[in-house]
Amino acid sequence: MAQRILIIDDDASLRRVLEYNLEEERYEVFTAASGEEGMRLFEEQQPGLVITDLKMPGMSGFDVLRQIKEGSPDTLVIVITAFGAVETAVEAMRAGAYDYITKPFNREALKLTVRKALAFTGLSSENRRLKEELAERFDFRNIVGMSDKMQRVFDVVRRVADTEATVLITGESGTGKELVAKALHSLSSRHNGPFVPINCAAIPRELLESELFGHVKGAFTGAVKDRAGKFQLADGGTLFLDEVGDLPVDLQAKLLRALQEREVSPVGGEAPRKIDVRVLAATNAELDQAIEDGKFREDLYYRLAVIPIHLPPLRERREDISLLVRHFAGRHGGAQVRFDDRSLQILREYSWPGNVRELENTVERLLILRRGDTIEPEDLPAQIGRRRAVAAGTKVLNLPDEGYSLEELEREAVLEALERTGWNQTAAARFLRIPRHTLLYRMEKYHITQGEKKQ
Ligand SMILES: Nc1ncnc2c1ncn2[C@@H]1O[C@H](COP(=O)(O)OP(=O)(O)OP(=O)(O)O)[C@@H](O)[C@H]1O
Ligand SMILES: [Mg+2]
Repeated sequence: MAQRILIIDDDASLRRVLEYNLEEERYEVFTAASGEEGMRLFEEQQPGLVITDLKMPGMSGFDVLRQIKEGSPDTLVIVITAFGAVETAVEAMRAGAYDYITKPFNREALKLTVRKALAFTGLSSENRRLKEELAERFDFRNIVGMSDKMQRVFDVVRRVADTEATVLITGESGTGKELVAKALHSLSSRHNGPFVPINCAAIPRELLESELFGHVKGAFTGAVKDRAGKFQLADGGTLFLDEVGDLPVDLQAKLLRALQEREVSPVGGEAPRKIDVRVLAATNAELDQAIEDGKFREDLYYRLAVIPIHLPPLRERREDISLLVRHFAGRHGGAQVRFDDRSLQILREYSWPGNVRELENTVERLLILRRGDTIEPEDLPAQIGRRRAVAAGTKVLNLPDEGYSLEELEREAVLEALERTGWNQTAAARFLRIPRHTLLYRMEKYHITQGEKKQ
């Protein structure tokens, strides 16, 4: 039996295009020109999927979405949003939409989205679990992210959490490595056991061995009684080896043995003790290089990186920035605070060398220092606004002291050229002395769209 789809849009031509494309895929399609008519048809036909525009006179798409989700939560709703209106899309997803398509839309993308959605309804026996997953989709154990890159991370986290596999989490400072480690623990069946972090870079070499493995009384001066190490403290739970790249080589050997034998020998002790610990590790260093330099054991690396999870820097997932800003504003007592479009845009374009941590600190500071309930560009810290001047026009670049990413510079140049030429791509390409297709490639690479600018 053909799957039934209801399309609600006040724009007749868009309705026809949607109908045509979906009928081509052999779905049974119904169309309505208003929210009210749509709800009537919905009751009558009980389609498995509804595609609705958001902005309509009378009953809006949001009303349709809410009403459908209330009455029949299993029906999937895809919303149609204006190109670049990410905020609206996110809001709709939060309200229960399954996905969104932007107009003007691409036929293949449309068909794919619909196919994906309907495949999803097919799994209705698992509906409950999947619905829970959906609710988590943008907000996964306090880890916020709507970018594909973060969605992929969530996916791996979900799949490996409740296993005994060792996970190596890599990523620049402030990208959320510890947060992911905690999520892995709390989603595992060890969640009632302890989560014990140890920062291998922060503890002096002489103490580290005893910190990890414990010691017996008299093992060294000052060892006045037996002391349990972190491994033992983590028994029945998870041990998180942070900055594992800084572990001295001799301790790496001992760690490897502990992982392989599942037992630890306290300093000065003879008999090893059995331990039941799941190990997670993190590093912001390039271990490849350390291995080549003989500073990190290759066998230990493979032992730790059974499952590697890489957290991309924030500048490579700018789609997440607005969402994170809102998340941190809420968390730091500024749920009612609004960031105006221009300041959001500046925040989205900044390079965030300190990643999410820097963003969180920035938001927190902005909330404390704010003069009202709206944050405007003038409120933003100088270094965040300053980058906009970096590529400003003349031949002399004024790069900040702390250095600057060449990719950022290129992105800035492309944006600047487009802005100056009123988003005339031919003119912008000429301005940058590159062929138009190169410009288009760069725009795609850096996710530059005019919609984004206008938002
Ligand atoms: N995706 C995210 N959603 C919400 N909060 C996040 C996210 N990523 C990071 N954070 C927050 O940013 C801060 C830094 O994260 P975390 O400590 O996990 O980073 P890290 O990668 O371990 O950094 P470092 O290498 O410096 O130790 C924390 O307050 C964390 O809660
Ligand atoms: Mg950390």
